[in-house]
Amino acid sequence: MSSLFAPFTLGRLSLPNRVVMAPMTRSRATPDGVPTPSMATYYAQRATAGLVISEATHPSLQSQASANAPGLHNTDQVAAWKNVTDAVHVNGGRIFAQIQHAGRVSHPKVTGLTPIAPSAVEPGFPVFTGLFGDFEAMLPAPIPRELSTQEVAGQIEVYVAAARYAIEAGFDGVELHGANGWLIQQFLSSSANQRSDAYGGSVSGRIRFAVEVAEATAAAVGADRVGFRLAPGTSLWGIVEEDVPELYGSLVSALAQLDLAYLHTIASTDEEVLTDMRKRWPGAFIVNPSAVRGAQPADKEKGERWLAMGADLIAFGRAYLANPDLVERFRTGAALTEHDDETMYNGGDTGYINYTSYQY
Ligand SMILES: Cc1cc2nc3c(=O)[nH]c(=O)nc-3n(C[C@H](O)[C@H](O)[C@H](O)COP(=O)(O)O)c2cc1C
Repeated sequence: MSSLFAPFTLGRLSLPNRVVMAPMTRSRATPDGVPTPSMATYYAQRATAGLVISEATHPSLQSQASANAPGLHNTDQVAAWKNVTDAVHVNGGRIFAQIQHAGRVSHPKVTGLTPIAPSAVEPGFPVFTGLFGDFEAMLPAPIPRELSTQEVAGQIEVYVAAARYAIEAGFDGVELHGANGWLIQQFLSSSANQRSDAYGGSVSGRIRFAVEVAEATAAAVGADRVGFRLAPGTSLWGIVEEDVPELYGSLVSALAQLDLAYLHTIASTDEEVLTDMRKRWPGAFIVNPSAVRGAQPADKEKGERWLAMGADLIAFGRAYLANPDLVERFRTGAALTEHDDETMYNGGDTGYINYTSYQY
């Protein structure tokens, strides 16, 4: 079994360890989606991770899910992200940008635009119209506008343009967000996707959007700079997947043709499905050994268990949020600081950059 502290080669990068910082929305950008100096500090504090994955970043205004999330769709955002990636690199780290298109999990109060989705299905759940996590600012998600077949290509281009911007901003690569109920998973889901064209219906239809986004992004910035995140079987944001083993088996086999930098999965379903994904995936395999709203954050023991079961790298979310020196704490066995739920998304530096390294 490899250790969390063994080096690993990921695409063009040499990682000093197997510990990955999972993507986490923190709502600390400006209202225009421009990264702030505090964000540079936050990510730089965590640069000893083998790999940092940024918070969800929207590739267009229409794809924004909540207020004060950062974007990657204009030059002001690119210039400000450069300060973040420089700060991580100066501190010896590596960082991928997570690209998240919200699809139907969005609201005109945030974007000024009607959300788009695979199908015009009534979502039946409320969405955030202010900061992520502000439950008082939730309103029913409007019925989204269904993308025409021709328009699907345009949305693939939206991911590609953001990936190009990410590289221009100094990111080492991008992670395409195919998890947690956002646009890519809406296409995968038999409830959100009721299309009758080539992007819907059978498993091969429902995985088409995911695969084409990955193909086009890899062609634009290099396959070894593109990762893909999945959460098989999750029910977040109204997602229903009735055929999880078949759906994810087919999807992973199709993505496996593309030589991507990595596949990143949340342990959101039966271990049999996850280990089958591992077998189908020839490249780097990241496991976040946790349920998204699991009571306990993923910990070192769960990480080591997954390394023994074939994962190459382990992603930690909440433990990283509260422990900027997580790698060193794991190495020394130092106690972990607990994360504070109240300050996860509410702006400001408290609960953001005031978590300190362990005082030995
Ligand atoms: C504050 C917070 C924000 C999150 N934002 C994102 C996100 O932007 N993108 C994403 O893919 N997952 C997001 N997640 C899910 C985490 O990446 C991770 O899957 C989850 O926290 C479970 O892992 P853990 O037990 O290590 O925290 C978020 C989780 C938390 C706690």
